[in-house]
Amino acid sequence: MSEVVNEQEIDMSKPPAENMVRVTFQTEGQGSKTVEFEFGSMSYDGHGLPMSFLDVAENYGVFLDHACGGVCACTTCHLHVIAGEKGISEPEDLELDRMETAPGIQLNSRLGCQAVIERPGAYVVDIPAWNRNYVQEGKPSAAVKA
Ligand code: FES
Repeated sequence: MSEVVNEQEIDMSKPPAENMVRVTFQTEGQGSKTVEFEFGSMSYDGHGLPMSFLDVAENYGVFLDHACGGVCACTTCHLHVIAGEKGISEPEDLELDRMETAPGIQLNSRLGCQAVIERPGAYVVDIPAWNRNYVQEGKPSAAVKA
């Protein structure tokens, strides 16, 4: 069973203990949530690659949209990696191709369902507000045709 530590219980002034993963999800203008668990202890939730940011988010009740279910077929899980990039998997060609269709791409952009945490450490990701708005307003391809 995974260990969940609420943000209030995490001493953010210190790095996570050895073999622990600390993930902070920032949501632009809506605060943040930090979870911490032992590396290798988290069960797979069935969305995205195991130990991807989407998998962590789903395990701990953090909203990260994933319209395609986490199979690299949309860009709604787009996030920005603020810290911890050295502990995250390199993007595969499929993710890179998909990212070319994402709005607002940055150098630190990744798909949350494909970026996998590969080692213990501290990670911070930002879920951009414009991405959530983009989803809520519907994709251009969903427009009704006459
Ligand atoms: S959820 Fe669709 S690409 Fe990640």
